[in-house]
Amino acid sequence: MVDYRDLIYGNDQKVPTKFGLKPYLNLDNAASTPPFKDVMKLIANECLWYSSIHRGAGYKSKYLTERYEESRRAVTGFINADPNHDVVIFTKNTTDSINKVRHYLPYLPGELVVYTRLEHHSNELPWLNHQNICLELNNNTLDLEQLEKVLKRNHGNIKLLAVTGASNVTGYLPPIYILAEMAHAAGARILVDAAQLAPHRPIWVRPATDPRHLDFLVFSGHKMYAPFGAGVLVGPKWLFNQGDPSQVGGGTVKAVDSEGIYWAEPPEVEEAGSPNVLGALTIAESFKVLHKIGWNELFHHEQQLLEATLTGLKKIPGITVYNEATTQRVGVIGFNVKGIYHQTVGEALAEYGIGVRTGCFCARNYVKHLLNLSHLIYQGTNQRKLPGLVRVSFGCYNNLTDVTYFLDVLEELIKSADRLYG
Ligand SMILES: Cc1ncc(COP(=O)(O)O)c(C=O)c1O
Repeated sequence: MVDYRDLIYGNDQKVPTKFGLKPYLNLDNAASTPPFKDVMKLIANECLWYSSIHRGAGYKSKYLTERYEESRRAVTGFINADPNHDVVIFTKNTTDSINKVRHYLPYLPGELVVYTRLEHHSNELPWLNHQNICLELNNNTLDLEQLEKVLKRNHGNIKLLAVTGASNVTGYLPPIYILAEMAHAAGARILVDAAQLAPHRPIWVRPATDPRHLDFLVFSGHKMYAPFGAGVLVGPKWLFNQGDPSQVGGGTVKAVDSEGIYWAEPPEVEEAGSPNVLGALTIAESFKVLHKIGWNELFHHEQQLLEATLTGLKKIPGITVYNEATTQRVGVIGFNVKGIYHQTVGEALAEYGIGVRTGCFCARNYVKHLLNLSHLIYQGTNQRKLPGLVRVSFGCYNNLTDVTYFLDVLEELIKSADRLYG
């Protein structure tokens, strides 16, 4: 197995464990990944030129403005978007990007949005104030028959199909290009929340004339080895010329006078205030590193980690893996240990230097479905005990040694569960 550990900054960082200081094993990459070393190098180099972009007359400002715009072109290329039709807007994160899309989609009476049971709250809550339909799951995959019926019944009235590119709970990969074809055939647009997809798979936005075109694509740098506070929103240029921007301020206008306000063109009109230039540069750099490794290599590496982990978990008594059978998935696994509360498992793993996440992962509707619960309510009188799962999620730098250590520790914890938690 190829080892990508050396690409990561901070890998050897030691953390306090019950055995003293030990190297940290991060299995919480779906939350945030550590930076690539190349990304840190870029930050150090470009900080030599740090200055205000788009506004300054000096050399450094001009240089960094060009680097910022170059990053925008690079990201456009990496996601196979058509620069004549689509615009790449640098935002704060996925959540910010989705809220911007919501701002630009005014709803007429009778129009609705379709979202799915899988969604992270960032791609669910923005749509709940509108008339909406939640697409359910059938055998743990999206129910395309239900979608077909919904699209037929509401042909021409569906404003948007909002769907995750990859689940942050089980790693399940919805068939986004099939969904795009179905949405377009019914006169709807599609928004793909690629927060979990972008670090794991190549993405094709494709030309607007292609039925598989992704109308809106959103993702975050901090989940793809560029944790410097920037995100991306891709969408049709013309839309961002409609009405007022989602935020107003410096950089969003061509002119203001007593006659009125003349808004700037996209992307500037949606990048209010001083842009996060280093955040944007690092997203482009991170894509560069991922492409250099190769998506096929990343895919095979991740499949090995998944296989080894799922096989190992199966051998440990008392483990339930959720949506285990799904084959189309990225390196995210949600599970529970019989008789041990999810948060207790997470805290116990942390004592061994292993970082996982526990709870509902801002996807309460999906977790509720996986646990077969009608409500997500506190268990008993303990207000701390909200139902949930334990989640391990891989970055490209994790390896089989990490998997073995995690499985060994988990098995040991379960064996000694009576002593520890009885
Ligand atoms: C699928 C998915 N969508 C959206 C988000 C929100 O991302 P951010 O916090 O970067 O806005 C997350 C974060 O975990 C996610 O996993």
